[in-house]
Amino acid sequence: MAVVTDKKTTSVYNFDIQYELLKKYKSANGWFWSAFKRYPLMYLFGTIVFGVSTYLATKTTALIGEALDYLLIEGFSTNFNKTIGLMIIYVAISWACLSSGAYVWSIASFRVQRDMRQEFYDVIQDHSMAFFDVNDSGVILSMGMNEINQIRMAMHPGFRMLMTSIFSIVITTVFLWQYDLIIGVAVAVSFVVYLIIAWIYASKVGPIRRKLAKDLADLSATSQEMFRGIDVVRSFDNHDKEINKFGHISNEYALDMKKEGYLSAFYWPALITIVFTAASFGYGIWLVIEGSFSIGVFISVLALLMALSRQNFMIPMRLIMLQAGLQNSKRLWDSMAFKDPLTQPEKPVESEWNKKISFNNISFAYPSTDKKVLDNISFQIPAGSRVALIGGPGSGKSTILKLLLRLYDPTEGDILINGVSMSSMHTSHVRSNVTMVEQDIFLFSDTLKANISFAKPDATDEEIGKAAERAQISQFIESLPNQYDTVIGERGVTLSGGQRQRVAIARALLSNPKLLLLDDSTSAVDIKTELRLRKAMDELMKDRTSIVVTQRLTTLVAADMIILMKKGRIVDIGSHTELLERCQDYQFMCQYLPITNESVASNDVGGRN
Ligand SMILES: Nc1ncnc2c1ncn2[C@@H]1O[C@H](COP(=O)(O)OP(=O)(O)OP(=O)(O)O)[C@@H](O)[C@H]1O
Ligand SMILES: [Mg+2]
Repeated sequence: MAVVTDKKTTSVYNFDIQYELLKKYKSANGWFWSAFKRYPLMYLFGTIVFGVSTYLATKTTALIGEALDYLLIEGFSTNFNKTIGLMIIYVAISWACLSSGAYVWSIASFRVQRDMRQEFYDVIQDHSMAFFDVNDSGVILSMGMNEINQIRMAMHPGFRMLMTSIFSIVITTVFLWQYDLIIGVAVAVSFVVYLIIAWIYASKVGPIRRKLAKDLADLSATSQEMFRGIDVVRSFDNHDKEINKFGHISNEYALDMKKEGYLSAFYWPALITIVFTAASFGYGIWLVIEGSFSIGVFISVLALLMALSRQNFMIPMRLIMLQAGLQNSKRLWDSMAFKDPLTQPEKPVESEWNKKISFNNISFAYPSTDKKVLDNISFQIPAGSRVALIGGPGSGKSTILKLLLRLYDPTEGDILINGVSMSSMHTSHVRSNVTMVEQDIFLFSDTLKANISFAKPDATDEEIGKAAERAQISQFIESLPNQYDTVIGERGVTLSGGQRQRVAIARALLSNPKLLLLDDSTSAVDIKTELRLRKAMDELMKDRTSIVVTQRLTTLVAADMIILMKKGRIVDIGSHTELLERCQDYQFMCQYLPITNESVASNDVGGRN
């Protein structure tokens, strides 16, 4: 019967990642600025040494005029030498501070990038299939790589340089203030106005930046798709079309880059600083003529003003970098904050999976559409039965299996496992009891050993060998030079369809599930492969409840119960003989099933394939 568990605190039930993250950082901005909370000491050290470095650099600039005045009045005097000596010391310390600060700041920022990327992957891979139905894998990939990188660049070098610019401007203003109140006040006021305009201007670049991030994601999604499906592209001789498609997206990206480049290049707020520097220059000359400024002070003021306008020129680029980081963190945050229709129960309940399974008035529509693909279906599966699902394409067979793996929850109705509703169970509990051999088999670009032991990484070589043997694939594997350590190509392309299916069966055998779901929609295989597959499937179905989507007559004949589907509804349920007797649809279907020669079934199926 149902066992109530409260495993929220244990590591087995890792389902609070999204909740915890959203609660901790609250918003995209909160997540972005959390960098400072993550490594506070490193960022604090950076901030302090940047302050010291900027102060000393400004002080050195101011000393130029002082040294000049000594030189003009006293010649190469002790005062002159002292000032020059001081300038050298200040420059050395300033350089040391700047370099060490930049180093520590960059380490902290790369750590933040690593942490954020991990959080992004943790949350995204925890989303249910509803998320992946509406989000392209190439786009997600680009988010996790390019966009996270831009977030880091906003912090380092973007924010770091912005901060040093602001330090420099504030310190320079104070210095100028000391020379002349009017220049000081004017600098302060014009800088505030400049900063406001610069921020508004940078915000204009924001939407273009967002579009650029999307373009880049589309570009990476298209290229990923093109290379993954390279065999299809080649076989249909479609590469011109694919190249055009890629070229079109690439062009769009280039055009948006141009727009962004234009906005950044003709950055009119910078005019303010040019006008202001010119005005201060004129005012300074007037002060020299009037006698309030010495030549040295005038030179110092001029040097400080030049430094100031250089900093001002750099601010926009840094603000744009910051904007890009904020925009990208918003995109990533929105994906992380995806409202999943499949939720984990507060108090998860467990059940016994080797008992009765009931579908009670189940209706289902995929979250991305409104179309009902299962319409009010009900059936009961007694413990340990072999069930065969049959029906036309798109009739909802694979969907039934997906519901049993709790990849989605039914829109209406309840699936009961030994009387316990599946929606009250944690997905980890479901998946530790149910294994699916999917219709479109996916194998990792890894060794055969790693692929077979995927669900049980601690399996011994002996267990792996045994599973492969039962799955009728051991002879083939042992004939390879590297045997179980053979690395298979991306998506297992170096294996034939039948071999891939048997590797997947070995993987399922090793996970030893209570409920087995087998989506075996392939029918057209040669007799030898068919026999091997059947033997492997028989091994897999032994001693457990199994639900198999099949078009194999032998599997249908051997099934305890056949469920015949049509357009999301159940047409009839019964054994092969019963259905053959009473169900016209079944009779019709059986006429077109591939029939294997039963006499071959008893033959030896050894030899490698
Ligand atoms: N992820 C999805 N998002 C939206 N609709 C989907 C999704 N997967 C399947 N469908 C739709 O649901 C319906 C049932 O699909 P399902 O895969 O269950 O059919 P099936 O009986 O397994 O067909 P086949 O024999 O071709 O494998 C189809 O109309 C299909 O287009
Ligand atoms: Mg299917």
